[in-house]
Order: sequence, then C-alpha cells, then structure tokens
Amino acid sequence: MIKVKKRKFLLLPGDGVGPEVVGEVKKIIQWFNSNKSLDFEMEEGLAGGASYDKHGTPITDEVFYKALECEAVILGAVGGPKWDNLEFSKKPERALLKLRKELKLFANLRPAICFKQLVDASTLKPEIVSGLDIMIVRELTGGIYFGEPRGIKPIDNGERKGINTHTYTTSEIQRVARVAFDLAKKRKNKVTSCEKSNVMEAGLLWREEVELLHDKEFKDVQLNHMLADNCAMQLLRNPKQFDVIVTDNLFGDMLSDQASMLTGSLGLLPSASLGAKNKDGKIRAMYEPIHGSAPDIAGKGIANPIATILSFAMALKYSLDLVKESDALEKAVQTVLDEKLRTKDILSPGMKEVSTSEMGDAIISKLQ
Ligand code: IPM
Ligand code: MG
Repeated sequence: MIKVKKRKFLLLPGDGVGPEVVGEVKKIIQWFNSNKSLDFEMEEGLAGGASYDKHGTPITDEVFYKALECEAVILGAVGGPKWDNLEFSKKPERALLKLRKELKLFANLRPAICFKQLVDASTLKPEIVSGLDIMIVRELTGGIYFGEPRGIKPIDNGERKGINTHTYTTSEIQRVARVAFDLAKKRKNKVTSCEKSNVMEAGLLWREEVELLHDKEFKDVQLNHMLADNCAMQLLRNPKQFDVIVTDNLFGDMLSDQASMLTGSLGLLPSASLGAKNKDGKIRAMYEPIHGSAPDIAGKGIANPIATILSFAMALKYSLDLVKESDALEKAVQTVLDEKLRTKDILSPGMKEVSTSEMGDAIISKLQ
C-alpha cells in the first residue's frame, strides 16, 4: 500500500475535560494510521491554564510556532475557576484568542444539528427542533473582541471607565460573508445576515457590504438581513427557518450558544475556525468542541467526547479533503447513538451509560 505524505495535527488538550476528550481523538488518529495507512502525525502541546501553571503564560512561543506549522490544530477546551482572577493577558482564554487572531482564523463554523436520537434532550418541543440543521458562521478575528482602544481607565470624578471598540472593514465583512455564501450553496442556499444596523454604524456597514457582495457574486443565493435581537428570538420561535447565519464576533458568540442548546446537547457540537487559503491552496485551521472545559466533571471519565470527535471529522473534511473518512467517522457516531450508548450528559431512560473512553472505543469499533 502506498503511504500518503505525513500530515501533522497539533493537539492542544487544554484544561478541564479537554485532555479526556482529546484523548479519544488520539485513539482515532492512531486507528486511521494503523487501519487506513493515512500516516497522520500528532504533536501535543500545553495551552490555557495548563500552560500557565507550567510556564506562566497561556501559550508559549514554542507551541504557537508549532500551530503555525501543522496542518490543523485540534483544541480541547481552556479555562476554569482556578485561573479566574488572573489579569487578562494571562487568562487561559488568551491562548484561544491569540491562536484565532494570529493564525487569522476569521471564519468560525458552528453547526447546530439536532440528532434524531436526541430530539427529546432539547428543552424545546420536538416538532420545533427535529431535523434542525443550522450553520452559524461567526466572524472570529475582528469586532469588539479585538478593537482598539480598549481598557479600563480612571476618569475625573473618581470613577473608572471601561472601553472596548467595535469596528469592521469592508474586507473583514466580505471575506466572512463569502464563506457563508459558499457554504449555503452546498446546503439549502439561504443566508441570513445578522447585525444591529438600527443602532450601530458598524452594523449598517455590515449589512451594506454583505448586500454588495451578494449582488456582485452570489445573486443565486437567497439572502435576508435580520437584526441580531430578532434572530435570537426567531431561533427559539422557529429555528428551522434558518440555513446559514452569518454574523459578527460578539453576536456570533451569543447566537451560537443559543443555537447549540436547541439541539439539547452541547456535548455533541463541533466547530471549525478557518483562515484564508494560502498560495498552495491550504487553509490554516483550528477545530474544537463548542463546549467549555467543564471543570466540575473533569477527571471523572464521564465527559462526552463526541463534539471533539466530530471536530476531528470536520478537520478531515475541511483541512485534508478526506471527505470519505470524515463521513465514515460521522456515521460511526450516529450508529453508536442508534445503539443507545450515551455518556452521562445525554443519558435518558432506556439508554446505556458509557464512560468517555467507552464511547470513543465504541465509535472506533464502528469504523472497522
Ligand atoms: C467561544 C468562547 C470563547 C469566546 C471564550 C472562551 C474566549 O465563549 O469560543 O465561544 O468568547 O469566543
Ligand atoms: Mg462562546
């Protein structure tokens, strides 16, 4: 058998349940290497609180350079109460923000899919969420997360002032909108763009630039604009009206959390953060579960590894173009759910409870 060229993943397990769920991805990578001769290479590094504890910084230059050189980063989760009182520049979350910003991962894809096996896990009525399949495209390197000036400063009367700045430029808006339109073409061909153009200039610019790009390059895709607060409401009222939602960094943060809970299972949702194509057609990318580090259940072997495993499936598809392998992995997850195996977070009567590693093993057994 001819071995393909080595492709390297950088695994950053991070904090809390991160190491446990990324551990299952490691097993899957090993399985692909032994059984499909894919010859993936993995390297591991510290990020977040784990890195702070050892090196006094949420991400070292060494790990950052590894991230620049690998095919894709697979991140577990960062953060936890232990590091809550650190100054901003040392907080675990900085590792994430630095990777996003400096790898220029401007498009964050967050699917919210309601798995048919888990319709009843949602807090919404089954008829509202069954068959739900939304893709939220969140702008990830601009807006109020990174705008200058920022800070907390004393003002005259003994009070303090907190400042953050929200800005977007034409190219920042259009490059992420382009990702949304391209995705829509492969789905139900519909994009909803969300902003607050009724109160924010940057929101008005967002609307206009998305519209201009649409008229110029994507006339065949259905586009509508929606104010972000209305979108929050519509997501609860009738989420199946959406196909692809494109929005800014802050609204995307909030709307994607909301959308994810429609599915009833934060533990199942993956995400991909993608950058621009470089000269040889490669894109920088980082993949991570939507859920956080869940410090309350860390180390107990009960975390759900599916979101991270599906994030790896996205890596296979978007970074390596291994669509067949990616589909096989997604199918293995479905089969395991069909067979009623559940980690604690999605357990319901009549189902069989399994641990993190039993879930990983069960998924691998379906890849055979
Ligand atoms: C997310 C998270 C991050 C964000 C935090 C951990 C910095 O909430 O990925 O949605 O706000 O972007
Ligand atoms: Mg968030």
